Amino acid sequence: MEFAIHRLGTVDSTSERAFDALARGAARDGDVFVARGQTRGRGRRGASWHSPEGEGLYFSVAILARAPIPPAALTMAAGVAMRAALADLGLARAQLKWPNDLVCDGAKLCGCLVETRGLDPERPHYVLGIGLNVRQREFPPELLAERAVTSLALCGVECDCERALDAALSRLAERLDEARAAPESTCAAYVAAAELSGRAVRLLGPDGALEGRLVGLSLARGVELECADRRRVALALEHVRALEPQ
Ligand code: BTN
Repeated sequence: MEFAIHRLGTVDSTSERAFDALARGAARDGDVFVARGQTRGRGRRGASWHSPEGEGLYFSVAILARAPIPPAALTMAAGVAMRAALADLGLARAQLKWPNDLVCDGAKLCGCLVETRGLDPERPHYVLGIGLNVRQREFPPELLAERAVTSLALCGVECDCERALDAALSRLAERLDEARAAPESTCAAYVAAAELSGRAVRLLGPDGALEGRLVGLSLARGVELECADRRRVALALEHVRALEPQ
């Protein structure tokens, strides 16, 4: 995938800028909207994304596809790519947490959000927004009250946002191509990157938690576990709320 970078000052949300360009018919596949800061950065499940100017990396990629791409594949591809990008930047110990949070020392470092809107059914489109805390040395108490948060700087990696963008896009290029062409391979890459293969895991779904050994993760069959009594259970990916090693 080739990217064209559009640099913005402080905006509401880079994902909103991408959707705006898509709605105007002005966005191309691979357009990247990167901002110095965001006033209304958003995260998953209605959360906000703290986006102080010059402190973090905030960008969104417009993806215009010929055929629909499974959103779960895009979601996993983003997480796998960002884990590799962090390792390239010198942070190999960041861990992938379902579906695509990157955490380090138990604190959230990076988040990815895949969204779509029914703009043109003939031309499926997606906006992948990524936020990475880069230079922050402190966070607002109200954010810390919600969850532990960290940055590359706090994890011991000194890096500027431009270098972080380069690393992210290099890794995203291959992973987003894979999600389009071979989305089941993205699932396999996810299992490897999240170090889940054959592991004892806890799976949280709409009906509660299940524990067992991970024996499969695919778009076709979802997350498959073998429970202690040898029974096999499966849960479609879109119903998986959490999946973590025990
Ligand atoms: C999450 O909740 O983990 C996802 C966070 C995604 C934040 C990024 S920052 C760039 C892009 N613009 C937004 O408004 N959100 C995403």
